[in-house]
Amino acid sequence: MRTQVVIIGAGPSGLLLSQLLHLNGIDCVVLERKSADYVLSRIRAGVLEQGMVDMLERAGLGQRMHEIGLPHDGFRLAVGETALRIDLKRLTGRSVMVYGQTEVTRDLMQAHAARGAQVIYEAEAVTPLDFDGDQPRVTYVQDGVTREIACDFICGCDGYHGVARASVPKGAITDYEKVYPFGWLGILAHVPPVDHELIYANHPRGFALASMRSHSLSRYYIQVPLDTPLEAWPDAAIWDELKRRLGEEAAARMTTGPSIEKSIAPLRSFVAEPLRFGRLFLAGDAGHIVPPTGAKGLNLAASDIHYLSEGLIEVYREKSEAGIDAYSARALARIWKAERFSWWMTRLLHRFPEEGAFDARMQQAEMDYLAGSQAAQTSLAENYAGLPY
Ligand code: FAD
Ligand code: DHB
Repeated sequence: MRTQVVIIGAGPSGLLLSQLLHLNGIDCVVLERKSADYVLSRIRAGVLEQGMVDMLERAGLGQRMHEIGLPHDGFRLAVGETALRIDLKRLTGRSVMVYGQTEVTRDLMQAHAARGAQVIYEAEAVTPLDFDGDQPRVTYVQDGVTREIACDFICGCDGYHGVARASVPKGAITDYEKVYPFGWLGILAHVPPVDHELIYANHPRGFALASMRSHSLSRYYIQVPLDTPLEAWPDAAIWDELKRRLGEEAAARMTTGPSIEKSIAPLRSFVAEPLRFGRLFLAGDAGHIVPPTGAKGLNLAASDIHYLSEGLIEVYREKSEAGIDAYSARALARIWKAERFSWWMTRLLHRFPEEGAFDARMQQAEMDYLAGSQAAQTSLAENYAGLPY
């Protein structure tokens, strides 16, 4: 088989790229290791920046998002004794959209199915080959048979543990990494959210986040040690912890109920540089990871795809490689700023086991500075709402 672009991974990066390329008349095949149901069962991000909302609209995917997504003009922060609302709309003129990654992926899958796009699920042993020359190809195994696709470009949209970055010769890509000494335990429950906006809290017992997927579906997170298994967290213990960490007022309003999903995610900052090797490109989690504080992971995947799709469209439309040559540097300039913001917000809102009373005072001072400074709030708000593409 031959196509123009092979995309590895059918997460949001891969499917969004495939959709944008298709709209511009470029052929592609998406190879995904898991089943479509498995991809949809992963509960991940929940907050979309305006830039990503605009992109989804351009990709013809705005309708359901605008019907059931929840625009949020601000969010709440609580650190120690200080509580503060960040008014995104007033400070930046922009808001964010609460619309889960699962729904974005579902919309993308439906658009692909409607046009009979080539998305091959349960493709095993996907292997990118010869991407340092001008005749790259990708092999994979389906139903026990090895198949090959020749192409012009390979896009690694296959997440942090994917095969694309791992296929690049050692030394050609530099990794920058920071691992945090705790994780986030997330639960999803069919209960109304505790507030109409998100609440991020730093309590002496650790971080907590009250989020949502709809008016009747809540998503909560707490900071947990990484050495405690999920089984040590029955639902009742999580609700108790949320009530303590989010404070008395929220606790009094909180509706609890059985969890329908529960998982622990480690926190990591990671960047691979550059995001290109020959005719292989990395995008989304394949090239970088942020800790989830600040909700940047999915949004960064979207901005990568913006730059990469522009570059690839330019190749076929204008016979110019200027866009793909600039891809890595353009994407990384935005990625590093989101890395900084996610790292900063993680430091502000978590209890670090190795840190003592001085560090707790620094967090309190940072928060008090924020509470008293419109300039500091604007800086936080413009990063949260999303820096320009
Ligand atoms: P992914 O969504 O990881 O998609 C990659 C796809 O590639 C997957 O479908 C995978 O099965 C496939 N794949 C992998 N290897 C291969 C292979 N060898 N061959 C073929 N296919 C392959 N961000 C937030 O903003 N907020 C959150 O709350 C949040 N929570 C998260 C929780 C977890 C557990 C994780 C892992 C991430 C979370 N993120 C969150 C980050 C956000 O979900 C990601 O940034 C986003 O999923 C990136 O999309 P992606 O398409 O680049 O990668
Ligand atoms: C969600 C996740 C985040 O990391 C965040 O900062 C806000 C919301 C969520 O899953 O709803």
